[in-house]
Amino acid sequence: MKPIRKAVFPVAGLGTRFLPATKAMPKEMLTVVDRPLIQHVVDEARQAGIEHCIFVTGRNKGVIEDHFDRQFELETTLLERGKKKEYELLMAELPAAGAASFTRQQSPLGLGHAVWCARDIVGDDPFAVVLPDVLVKAERGCLAQMIDAYNAIGRASNIIAVEEVPMERISSYGVVGIGKTHGKSFEITQMVEKPKREDAPSNLSITGRYILQPEIFGLLADQQKGAGGEIQLTDAMVRLSKTQPFYGVKFEGQSYDCGMKLGFLTANIAYALDRADIADELRAEIGKLLK
Ligand code: G1P
Repeated sequence: MKPIRKAVFPVAGLGTRFLPATKAMPKEMLTVVDRPLIQHVVDEARQAGIEHCIFVTGRNKGVIEDHFDRQFELETTLLERGKKKEYELLMAELPAAGAASFTRQQSPLGLGHAVWCARDIVGDDPFAVVLPDVLVKAERGCLAQMIDAYNAIGRASNIIAVEEVPMERISSYGVVGIGKTHGKSFEITQMVEKPKREDAPSNLSITGRYILQPEIFGLLADQQKGAGGEIQLTDAMVRLSKTQPFYGVKFEGQSYDCGMKLGFLTANIAYALDRADIADELRAEIGKLLK
């Protein structure tokens, strides 16, 4: 079985829910504490053993490329000022030469289309897809848990991270049907993108982490528009599931939907409360605000 070495990060979305913050800045650069969203998910991927990050960008997203490049002027200034710790932090996080690729989705045709744009860079290997809108705070990262499950299954399969969501929110997500359980994963019997509440096969939503076999690309190539008039990844996965197994993994950890203001703000507080340098003071400040 081939290892999962590459991850695709679709980052072409407009971020309309965060206007005007995202007028000139990509939503993926919004910070949770002091790290951009995109850095948080790249960290998760690297912990899972991902060696090559593929970003599917769009217009106005150039700063994401800069974020994963060297910044000589800043580095020199940090060194001149004796800020060795900050300098070392930047250097440690830099991707290895040639281990970050960027391609563009020229029109916003949907998540399925965005993933398809990465086909030539991914090539003929199984790969991960990580949506930067969703942060998962967990001791062992969500993608690492999925790769554990993938290895435990021990054959070429497709893995989707899922979690329970309240039924009143179910139609905002892709939803899976639950089959037989195998250790930490279960067979997926159905997948529906943004179903009506009464059509949802369960209360388990797709959380924005996928391990997919490369055969998905051939299906995405002629995938018709689905929910919301967009080319949906879920619809191509439904077609792939006719010939390949799909498993769901209920990961351990807390997810934050940072594509929504509430999730984003909650993530900021949750991550900050975990930081020794600010947690105590933040707790005191929140206490004052809530009085
Ligand atoms: C996408 C997927 C959906 C998934 C969701 C997770 O939808 O299509 O299946 O549940 O991400 O955040 P989007 O949020 O891009 O509409």
